[in-house]
Amino acid sequence: MEKIKLGIIFGGMSTEHDVSIVSGTSVISNLNKDKYEVFPIYISKDGEWYTYKATNISYKVGDKISNITEIDNPISYLKNLDVVFPILHGLYGEDGSIQGLLELLKIPYVGCHILSSSISMDKAYTKIIFEKAGIKQANYLYLKLLENKYALVHKDFSEELITLDKACEIAEILKYPIFVKPSNSGSSVGIRKATTREEMKEAIKYAGQFDSKILLEEQIIGREIECAVLGNEDVKASCLGEILPSDSFYSFDAKYNNAESKTIISAKMKENLEKQVKELAVKAFKAVDGKGFARVDFFVNEETEEIYINEINTIPGFTEISMYPKLWAHSGISYSELLDKLISLAMK
Ligand SMILES: Nc1ncnc2c1ncn2[C@@H]1O[C@H](COP(=O)(O)OP(=O)(O)O)[C@@H](O)[C@H]1O
Ligand SMILES: [Mg+2]
Repeated sequence: MEKIKLGIIFGGMSTEHDVSIVSGTSVISNLNKDKYEVFPIYISKDGEWYTYKATNISYKVGDKISNITEIDNPISYLKNLDVVFPILHGLYGEDGSIQGLLELLKIPYVGCHILSSSISMDKAYTKIIFEKAGIKQANYLYLKLLENKYALVHKDFSEELITLDKACEIAEILKYPIFVKPSNSGSSVGIRKATTREEMKEAIKYAGQFDSKILLEEQIIGREIECAVLGNEDVKASCLGEILPSDSFYSFDAKYNNAESKTIISAKMKENLEKQVKELAVKAFKAVDGKGFARVDFFVNEETEEIYINEINTIPGFTEISMYPKLWAHSGISYSELLDKLISLAMK
């Protein structure tokens, strides 16, 4: 049988470049080489395309990639492939742009298509879809940074110009602590938890360095629970995972630099809550018109039995120790089998 020519694209132009190197190289080393002819493609932070020759090095977040050779013509390089797995986290990878390129080239690819990718990458728009789906989530305010002014974006999308001080004053209806997030954030980059007006002001300015859309959210008290979904039409939910961050929230440092952060698989809770989380994960995935796979993140308050959705990640971390593959491993699907499933879903 002829091998499937599989492109793995990793790296990329987002703030999650380094995380993607770890995910991408991990996928490359776990693929069944009898089945696939693997074409690793690395995109540098400034958007140059390279081929990558897999080494035995296992990358950690922050390591520089080696063994790369520039690709003269990325388009003709891609056209030779049967299917592509973009393991690019964040902007230009998880937001529909690479998906758009692959659509244009008529190359099947793993994961969500353009619309679901772009909605899910933008926290403000994800919220609008979840609202429509009736899925409970944190109360929030949506600000836009326009040149040096701010606009409060109302529920009907009308914009009211306000000063930063006024924005902070209005946001205080949410009660401290308030999470301030760039709308397009990933890996917690640009996110701060503000406990005073002064901190909120700084946090808004800081978030504005990453995106011109900024979300202010009330804090949700509850366990941080994640669920993996897999499928195109018939979507399955995995067992649940739990995050125990080492920090006061799951910040970039707590995610990648702090060994004290722990993940638990599978997370135990009352059966009815567990069942609801799984149903909501599939519902949220369908609501954004997801395909292939995603990790859906929640806060679960066991006392009040309330489940709040936090976000949906359409290209979740994919190292061997990442939550997404580990949830499936616990549900009986090994890392390599999972890759096979994702690739066959892409080719359907
Ligand atoms: N409304 C909230 N209430 C409580 N914790 C939150 C809230 N929003 C975010 N967090 C914390 O911040 C982390 C990162 O926020 P998140 O929205 O998931 O951004 P990212 O897309 O960068 O992962 C979460 O994992 C959680 O620990
Ligand atoms: Mg998150």
